[in-house]
Amino acid sequence: MKHMPLPRIDANTKLHDGLLKYCRLSPGQVWHDPEGRHRVGCLDAVDAPAVEAFMEGEKAVLAVQDPPYNMVAFGTADPDVYVDWCARWIDTVDCILSSDGSLYVWLGADQQNHFQPLADFMIMMRKKPFKSRSFITLRNQRGYGTQKNWMAVRQELLYYTRGNPVFHVAAEYTDIPKILRGYYKDVAGVRTENLQRGRSETIRAGNVWVDIQQVFYRMEENVSGCFAQKPCKAIERIVQAGSCPGDCVVDFFCHSGTTLVACERSRRRCFCVDHDPVFCEITIRRLERLRATGKTGWQAGNPFENELENDLQAVVPSDIRGQVAVGK
Ligand SMILES: C[S@@+](CC[C@H](N)C(=O)[O-])C[C@H]1O[C@@H](n2cnc3c(N)ncnc32)[C@H](O)[C@@H]1O
Repeated sequence: MKHMPLPRIDANTKLHDGLLKYCRLSPGQVWHDPEGRHRVGCLDAVDAPAVEAFMEGEKAVLAVQDPPYNMVAFGTADPDVYVDWCARWIDTVDCILSSDGSLYVWLGADQQNHFQPLADFMIMMRKKPFKSRSFITLRNQRGYGTQKNWMAVRQELLYYTRGNPVFHVAAEYTDIPKILRGYYKDVAGVRTENLQRGRSETIRAGNVWVDIQQVFYRMEENVSGCFAQKPCKAIERIVQAGSCPGDCVVDFFCHSGTTLVACERSRRRCFCVDHDPVFCEITIRRLERLRATGKTGWQAGNPFENELENDLQAVVPSDIRGQVAVGK
């Protein structure tokens, strides 16, 4: 394993631009999986005609969307601007999702600022052709704000559907242990409580997930340089609940390629998009690495480590070169 973690690519323009020469896609281009299953498009999620053309008439049964929800990315603190943009990519989802389809959206709530943009997004969705189904909470291990507020340890995940899509979660047990006692019931004249009655040590998936480790640098699935990676286990849970083997799943904000990895491992087909050629390249390389090695990420290495070993000076600006430790 190489020890060569990259700093946040999105926050280092010089590094980002230096990596462009290793990217096989330019804006507007599409990569087709040589094994015929997946596609990666370097496209803008709000460009509905381009995304429709990318789908080539195919409809997805599931959309897993994790848009940037950091207002800084929009250079504005105005939630209306952000939500107008969300309404546009939701319209793109509307064009390419099956009439029996599921839509999951990861979106944050700024507790210092009236829980935007989550609250605004939920209201906007009332006008869209989707039915609200669940508001899932993923509990992080690490949080912030312990001195003067409740520690913030939650990530929010919204689940919408239309028509009558598949939903397989009822059969799935999580790794969440049974911890709450006290649900008493008389069985054959004997008072039993819930821990005695069920055969499983763990509970079925509800809308609070506390059994998923946040991605951090020691985990094999870590993709250094990516600032917003979701855990494979969370995306695999969504993919397996909302689709069947062979189905088409879309992700318009693929970034490190977690949805593509989840689809490959769950035998679904993933058509994913990012507007940035660097994140498209990382997504493609993550799939190639998975197929070649069985590994889901680079842990403390990085997707460009082979090139950078010889080309560090040219690509990594001197002011951040110290952050990219090189070694074996
Ligand atoms: C929060 S990250 C997604 C993380 C992803 N779920 C993962 O596990 O790696 C958001 C991504 O959206 C991309 N993005 C931002 N605006 C976009 C747009 N208009 N169209 C397509 N992609 C966009 C960014 O380049 C970034 O890679």
